[in-house]
Amino acid sequence: MKQNRPSATAQRVAMQRAAHQLLDDPKVFDDPIAVRIIGKESASALQADAHQFETTPLSSYLRAFVAARSRFAEEELSLGVQRGVCQYVILGAGLDTFAFRNPFPEGVLHIYEVDQPKTQTWKRARLEEVGVTLPGNLTFAPVDFEAQTLLEGLRGAGYDPGRCTFFSWLGVTEYLTAEAVKSTLRFIASAPAGSGVVFDYMISPSLLNPAQRLRFDALAQRVASAGEPWKAFFHPGLLMRDLRAMGFGFVEDKGPEEINARYFKNRKDELRVGSLSHLMNARF
Ligand SMILES: C[S@@+](CC[C@H](N)C(=O)[O-])C[C@H]1O[C@@H](n2cnc3c(N)ncnc32)[C@H](O)[C@@H]1O
Repeated sequence: MKQNRPSATAQRVAMQRAAHQLLDDPKVFDDPIAVRIIGKESASALQADAHQFETTPLSSYLRAFVAARSRFAEEELSLGVQRGVCQYVILGAGLDTFAFRNPFPEGVLHIYEVDQPKTQTWKRARLEEVGVTLPGNLTFAPVDFEAQTLLEGLRGAGYDPGRCTFFSWLGVTEYLTAEAVKSTLRFIASAPAGSGVVFDYMISPSLLNPAQRLRFDALAQRVASAGEPWKAFFHPGLLMRDLRAMGFGFVEDKGPEEINARYFKNRKDELRVGSLSHLMNARF
């Protein structure tokens, strides 16, 4: 992405989460701050016409996946807290709102939001604009995954590598090089027992059938024209093998069928995720 300006995809994804709050019943991911955080102007426009961002037939797949991945990550975070997780690191946080609706009692969790400095400055200005106060247990850690090590950036923010940590990494890996993704995963693999990570990733285009390939190309073109081209693609089986080799004892890949069965069954509106949706869950 262009580092001299905030991430455009962070706003787009936040708009999808906001639209989900207004359009979909029942909600898969309930986020009472989602509409506010997109900014006053966008929120008014969305409230006036919640369908206006459904620009292509793929929009509802994307909205469903954005909702499902946040829900899955936060469910895994809750399981992590039961295992002793006391630090939550949100990698490439964008306009994620967890820190402002954290359900855990005071003192349970310290939250670190990691993102490009420009995007963090923009987010802080946005929070101020919409009147969301920063909680005391949130620290911003400015890091560029491709230029800096995560440990360096997190340590500077007060992160303790010796404590049990849950990491979420949503909507980010596809924008990095495969090497940068693996180096971050190796860092996560050095966290103590009980730690874990949930992330989504883009599957290798070579695994797609012609109809899926068309959807892939349309989406890839859209993000590239926003200045944030996809760079990393993975084969699910090989990625799982690499994660096990890094030391993760539990590794599960959730593809579209499993995600739909878990979060979207028996819906009247037929909301569901599309075939490009993959989530990885890895822990010790
Ligand atoms: C599509 S947004 C997703 C935001 C958020 N995780 C969500 O689901 O709403 C991608 C995020 O990754 C961040 N990002 C992209 N490349 C990055 C890099 N090299 N270093 C740090 N953050 C990066 C962007 O700034 C942006 O916040």
